[in-house]
Amino acid sequence: MRIYEAKDYDDMSRKAANIIFAQVTMKPDCTLGLATGSTPIGMYQNLVERYNAGDIDFSEVTTANLDEYRGIEPTNEQSYYYFMNEHLFSKVNIDKNNTNIPDGTNMDVEAESARYEQVLRTLGGVDMQLLGIGRNGHIGFNEPGEEFVKETHCVDLAESTIEANKRFFDSIDDVPKQAYTMGIQTIMKAKKILLIVSGEDKADAVAKSFFGPVTPKVPGSILQMHQDVIVIADRAALSKCPR
Ligand code: PGA
Repeated sequence: MRIYEAKDYDDMSRKAANIIFAQVTMKPDCTLGLATGSTPIGMYQNLVERYNAGDIDFSEVTTANLDEYRGIEPTNEQSYYYFMNEHLFSKVNIDKNNTNIPDGTNMDVEAESARYEQVLRTLGGVDMQLLGIGRNGHIGFNEPGEEFVKETHCVDLAESTIEANKRFFDSIDDVPKQAYTMGIQTIMKAKKILLIVSGEDKADAVAKSFFGPVTPKVPGSILQMHQDVIVIADRAALSKCPR
């Protein structure tokens, strides 16, 4: 695991965009695993700017997103489908047929989990998986628990996650309580992982995930077992790490 310190959110976003930029330049037909949330917004902006400057071509790129709320329409502004269109897909020359996100409208948990896992198998592996990390150490929506769940599944969101995500909704009652997420093994199969994190409120999660014991109680800690992880964290997020 290589941990790079960024000065602040903007610096983190630029450094992360540089890595995705390098990945797509080196392998134009790569499969990118993508993430949503507040953290990657600046990175996507950077990528869109570089696309507009003519420096990056997404025409052969395939994507697979980590997660999606269950029971949400793609037209809902809080769906991750909507987010991806808003921040990246509608702004670059990616072929929408090559973008994949769990289907939040499929209420059949077993069918949707199996379908998405099959999609990922068919893609033949993710070249670079982008991750954020939750304040409770979750990756994707793999919440702290007693065991690592391997494959794509439906999760009950932790109270702290619902609390953290309520800022995007009119009221806490509108926050979906469940989501589909890639499992831990699904994530760990990616050839490379790029984790980005910013802010002091993530400092505990960062210290526990990268310097504590590997435990399903801190899902991000499993990344210590992956052989090719790049973390780009700003100073605030690294503030509780051992020096
Ligand atoms: P955030 O979410 O980027 O909105 O903080 C990250 C995560 O929960 O994985």
